Amino acid sequence: MIQTIRGFRDILPDEIQVWQRIEQEAKNIFENYGFKEIRLPILEKTEVFARGIGENTDIVEKEMFTFPDSKGKNQTMRPEATASIVRSYIQHKMYARDPEQKLYTIGPMFRKERPQKGRYRQFYQINAEVLGIDSPILDAQILVMLNLLFKRLEVKNLSTKINSLGCPLCRKTYNEALLSFIGNTENLCEDCERRKTKNPLRILDCKVESCRNQLEGAPLLKDYLCDECKIHFETLKNCLELENISYEIDDYLVRGLDYYTKTAFEIQTRELGAQSAVAGGGRYDGLIEILGGPKTPGIGFAIGFDRLVEIIAAKNGENNNIGPIVYFLAFGKKASEKAFKLCNELASKNIRAEMDFSDKSMKASMKKANKSNCRFCAIIGETEVEKGIISLKNMELGSQEEILEKDFISTMEKNI
Ligand code: HAM
Repeated sequence: MIQTIRGFRDILPDEIQVWQRIEQEAKNIFENYGFKEIRLPILEKTEVFARGIGENTDIVEKEMFTFPDSKGKNQTMRPEATASIVRSYIQHKMYARDPEQKLYTIGPMFRKERPQKGRYRQFYQINAEVLGIDSPILDAQILVMLNLLFKRLEVKNLSTKINSLGCPLCRKTYNEALLSFIGNTENLCEDCERRKTKNPLRILDCKVESCRNQLEGAPLLKDYLCDECKIHFETLKNCLELENISYEIDDYLVRGLDYYTKTAFEIQTRELGAQSAVAGGGRYDGLIEILGGPKTPGIGFAIGFDRLVEIIAAKNGENNNIGPIVYFLAFGKKASEKAFKLCNELASKNIRAEMDFSDKSMKASMKKANKSNCRFCAIIGETEVEKGIISLKNMELGSQEEILEKDFISTMEKNI
């Protein structure tokens, strides 16, 4: 038996209803806030992510599915969508038409991480990005929009963690302070040793206990923010309070991608074991320039679609078995032709209809109708053909009535 690759999985028809409902809610809410959908390729030139996410991040260093094209140039299965959206914004000169773009995209991402509950090698994200607006009020609006989506989906017990990562100016002063605090200590893990020179901020995010211990009492970025970054963060907090969005400030939230500036946030749950982040995002005011575009601010987030589904499905155990409105059982050539035509007509009128193609006994066919979870079973046998009627069984009530064939479609239209 050939099976899926480790970390890759099928999402089966039984599970799909929750996925579709989330997608629909997300699209509705995003579009109400002025977002437009964009669809992007899954394969990009490696440099989109290497430059965008940062050469020294875990994603770029260890987690990308990268392979050479026929000329030996590296290409990568996208590990995230933000860098791709920015690549597209620049490539199509969207900024020339209107620098302000609100875009969303939903689709699979790929990271070579160790698979576990809530962590896959192919996973799905719901991504929303705003390019061209630097107001902190927008940062708050993004978080309000995200909260609204979780509220609509009735997802509870989430905590919103926020932090400010400052701009390159205040980050530089902070890095110096952090490095001088860490001094010449030799107890940092191998990764942190490298981070010291490449990206000291990421030391704050280290999960190794000895590193964490040494960070106790370390200087915090919030004490090094420049005036502009401070005001930005204060305005964000005020706006969140205006909308009663509860949040916690997490001084150690640095996120795993290098492009963030100022606002960074994560929505976390306690329901998924080690994989606590359901969504993450933040501002990236330097990314567009890094990828070769004009100086343009940006902010956005990605929801871990798989994780959100897991939380919702665990709670609701949703009934995924939506059956047809009408299930046709026909016996004999003439009856089958009638069922065939009526079934098509119903479907064309947006009424879910199916027919049994098996030509079996009444008992066996009725079993199939039951299994289909239909609301009505339409029976067409020899008698029905002779009399020009259809026997309609209401599966919930168990009652049966005869309906003139010519009135059948209109009766069903009235019944749904
Ligand atoms: P991220 O934090 O790397 O951010 O991913 C966002 C979310 O994707 C995570 O919070 C998590 O729910 C989900 N996720 C990540 N990796 C996996 C995995 N291996 N399996 C299942 N779910 C996963 C980004 O990707 C940024 N591009 C977000 C962003 C958009 N920032 C600004 N704009």
